Amino acid sequence: MLNTPKNIALSPDGSAVRIIDQTLLPGKLEYIELRDREAMYEAIRSLRVRGAPAIGIFAAYCVYVLARDYGESEFFSRLDVDCDYLISCRPTAVNLSRQVERMRALARSMAGERTQTIVGALGREAEAIHGEDAAMCRSIAEAGLSLLHEGDTVLTHCNAGPLATSEYGTGLGPLLLAAERGMDIKAYVDETRPLLQGARLTAWELMNAGVDCTLICDNMAALAMAQGRVQAVLAGCDRMAANGDAANKIGTSGAAVIAKHYGVPVYILLPSSTIDMACPTGAQIPIEERDGEEIRSLWYARPMAPEGVKCWDPAFDVTDHELIAAIVTEKGVIRPPYDVNLKKLFG
Ligand code: MRU
Repeated sequence: MLNTPKNIALSPDGSAVRIIDQTLLPGKLEYIELRDREAMYEAIRSLRVRGAPAIGIFAAYCVYVLARDYGESEFFSRLDVDCDYLISCRPTAVNLSRQVERMRALARSMAGERTQTIVGALGREAEAIHGEDAAMCRSIAEAGLSLLHEGDTVLTHCNAGPLATSEYGTGLGPLLLAAERGMDIKAYVDETRPLLQGARLTAWELMNAGVDCTLICDNMAALAMAQGRVQAVLAGCDRMAANGDAANKIGTSGAAVIAKHYGVPVYILLPSSTIDMACPTGAQIPIEERDGEEIRSLWYARPMAPEGVKCWDPAFDVTDHELIAAIVTEKGVIRPPYDVNLKKLFG
């Protein structure tokens, strides 16, 4: 059983959601408690809690915590305002809206019951969402590991580990499981500019788990592949369209294009809660744009670009399904044609 710190939980009295503040890692492992909706919004927006499954789980707990304060007559109007507000935090990961809508639908299906009863059910639903994610991640790790071999080295991008999900994670699951089983599978961890989820979070998680990992800059992937140092690319996903196009952290698509050139397979690992069958292709996936200060000055002791330079800071890109060798979900390994095979399993 994996020994990772619990990234999301309810506070013991249920009045707050408790998370690891991921912005402080790897320097400091600190837990914070969020009680009001503005603080919850800020936590998602500034990536204190991040990763598609994790923000869905977090938001589900938030709906429960907020609903505890609603009066009988205002229950559904306040629920709607808070659900819409939470969904508006970040647009790309489908898990956020999916889990909030699941909570809202449950409450609505109980209209007419006492608020205390509805709130109790919301609490159990948030726990169920969390438990389902942990189980899906375990299955994804197992299926993903079946694609790797003793002695392989993989390239990771962004962070798709326990911090971004629950327990094993998705993209990092096979590595963590391999380490647990004493297998020799190594990783090149790319930094993942501009927010450094690879350097700050993936390297931290892999080192803690005893996985042999080496940090590289994002622009070193081509050389690593040209020299035969990488046998597979493993990445998570924020929203997969019905044709297999995969939105993930900016730079995933670039790594996949390079991998195609060098004949390295790209595996996208995700729970079914990240698949959006209502979205036909990647072109319809909304891409979050963030503050250019992340590129210009964040992390530097002094700004590393001229003051006032224009910046464009999209947080995600879409990897074309043709660049993906296999999709790994809790239902196993899926091969092309993805439109047909995703529909069979999730349609
Ligand atoms: O902006 P972030 O850090 O939330 O982006 C996260 C990613 O892109 C992850 O790779 C994705 O959510 C999969 S996490 C299992």
